[in-house]
Amino acid sequence: MTVYVNDTSGYHQGSLETLGWEVTVCNMLHPADSPCRKVLQKANSYGNLLYDFLKDHIPVHTIEKIVEIGGGYGNLMEDLLSRIPVAKATMIDISPALLETQKERLAEHDCEFILSDFQQVAAGTLRQYQLAVMNENVGDFPTLCNIPRSSLKDAKKPGNSSIALVKELYTKYSLIPPAGEKFSFNLGAAMAMEKLATAGIPCIFMSEHSCEASVTGEWKGLVEVSASDNPEKIPLHGHDEYTIRFSDIEKVAQYHGYNVQRGNFNDILRCELSPLVRFVMTSGSSSRDEHEIIRQFVEDVFKYEYLLCIKE
Ligand SMILES: C[S@@+](CC[C@H](N)C(=O)[O-])C[C@H]1O[C@@H](n2cnc3c(N)ncnc32)[C@H](O)[C@@H]1O
Repeated sequence: MTVYVNDTSGYHQGSLETLGWEVTVCNMLHPADSPCRKVLQKANSYGNLLYDFLKDHIPVHTIEKIVEIGGGYGNLMEDLLSRIPVAKATMIDISPALLETQKERLAEHDCEFILSDFQQVAAGTLRQYQLAVMNENVGDFPTLCNIPRSSLKDAKKPGNSSIALVKELYTKYSLIPPAGEKFSFNLGAAMAMEKLATAGIPCIFMSEHSCEASVTGEWKGLVEVSASDNPEKIPLHGHDEYTIRFSDIEKVAQYHGYNVQRGNFNDILRCELSPLVRFVMTSGSSSRDEHEIIRQFVEDVFKYEYLLCIKE
């Protein structure tokens, strides 16, 4: 198979009306009666738990302006603004339908809404923000797939301009490709981090389904995650997204002078290994819907990684 770009922009700009089957961890935790909240040490929404996590690492009281890219239904920003009421927010989204939902959800708050593919946003316009959030969305950004490993070494300028760009980024950020003859690269995620970092935003939070996830501690053996080390396709309704190779994106942020904290969602959400959760994770399939929801949720908590990039 030849090199191709996985590009979801047409789907997001066109037919998409709701996130539908694309269940995010943020949305799974949104309903106050969500069974997923039962799994947590502190039953709460994703946005509130993320705020509690952030406040232990960054001076949240100094935040005046937040930008969120790809905010979905606006649930996360609604929570952040309720915890930092003095802050103003900007929502940038490629989807007209989801931006409309965000406008309704955030009507009570001081927000502006920009309909744009983030790839078209100029870095200079981002300097005004103290916090940038990209939650569970960079898997939608372009991934270049089936890149021949040999093309990185080829001294000649590659004919394919996307490969030339990958080669440039690999050299600039000292990236090392995954094993194998061919690999994929999260071009859009790397360039999004490069743009936010170039703008010098003091705190950048990025999260997504990882291709390098691992399970440690008391959860080891209970939660199964596969880590291929190479971005993998996740087929979804109307489009495909790709898992993220966070070690690459981490190097981009570090190159630009950021201290990077990296981990999985359990650092933020803190699941409790209760008798119910242990039962669900060890009992194979269950006929009870709630058990299946909990199993899916716990697996996602460990499959999703985040980068918290801080510039002193
Ligand atoms: C899977 S949803 C995640 C929504 C939300 N952050 C959450 O965690 O529930 C992906 C979001 O990213 C947006 N998005 C996808 N590609 C984008 C792009 N190139 N520029 C801006 N927004 C984009 C989508 O429209 C959608 O709002």
